[in-house]
Amino acid sequence: MKDDNEVPQLTDDEKKLFEDLMPEDLSEILDTGVNRRHFLKLITLAGGGILAAQSAVAEQLIARPLSVSSPTELPPTSIENAVTLSFDVNGKTRTLAVDSRMTLLDTLRERLELTGSKKGCDHGQCGACTVIVDGRRVLSCLTLAATCEGKQVQTIEGLAKPDGQLHPMQAAFLKHDGFQCGFCTPGQICSAVALMDEARKGEASYVTENIRQKPAAIRLSDEEIRERMSGNICRCGAYPNIVAAIQEVHSGKPVEQVWRFSA
Ligand code: FES
Ligand code: FES
Repeated sequence: MKDDNEVPQLTDDEKKLFEDLMPEDLSEILDTGVNRRHFLKLITLAGGGILAAQSAVAEQLIARPLSVSSPTELPPTSIENAVTLSFDVNGKTRTLAVDSRMTLLDTLRERLELTGSKKGCDHGQCGACTVIVDGRRVLSCLTLAATCEGKQVQTIEGLAKPDGQLHPMQAAFLKHDGFQCGFCTPGQICSAVALMDEARKGEASYVTENIRQKPAAIRLSDEEIRERMSGNICRCGAYPNIVAAIQEVHSGKPVEQVWRFSA
């Protein structure tokens, strides 16, 4: 078995990673001659072990220095199967090179740093990744970013006004306590916002009573809302509050809160 002293010293990338994570300790560590085994222990103690290891591997795979600040600046040559994508995200035109196999969800989260949309299942089963593309709700984990060329994408980050005023659906979720952990909430809210439009256009659902009538604005019952939101799963079970929030925005009238503070 190798003695600690025989283990190679830190590489330049590892020093840089250490500097990023624990800048105040770097010189002391280097002066006392830390080796790689100590480095890994220290990084783990800093609470960043897994993150650091993943970052280092990812950085190596895409062959760029650790100090690159914006992921959108990746040159196309460092991306496999690169295609140039230009689309509108929350009112801003974004142009970037992406792997043609990259999902919209990963593009938003990993390349555009819009981490509001969540990755729950990555299989189209939970709805946590729901965003609005050209006015329709889509599961961004099942949507290839390359198919969004020229389209308008709206995420949870783009719903509030620039002055910070919340979208009515966001405000209603707050009022009705439509979440607990909040993981599903961005998807729930994006889904609910697009749902309002579907109802206005008279698009039928599985529980719409008369699907033969001419498309006209539909008055959504709670049952309609539950059916139309059934693709968005909430593991915390905030469903009654979510339905109340959506009903309030849809009806434009106050809906009684379904929760109470205990006496
Ligand atoms: S993460 Fe897309 S549906 Fe679950
Ligand atoms: S609020 Fe926790 S999953 Fe919905």
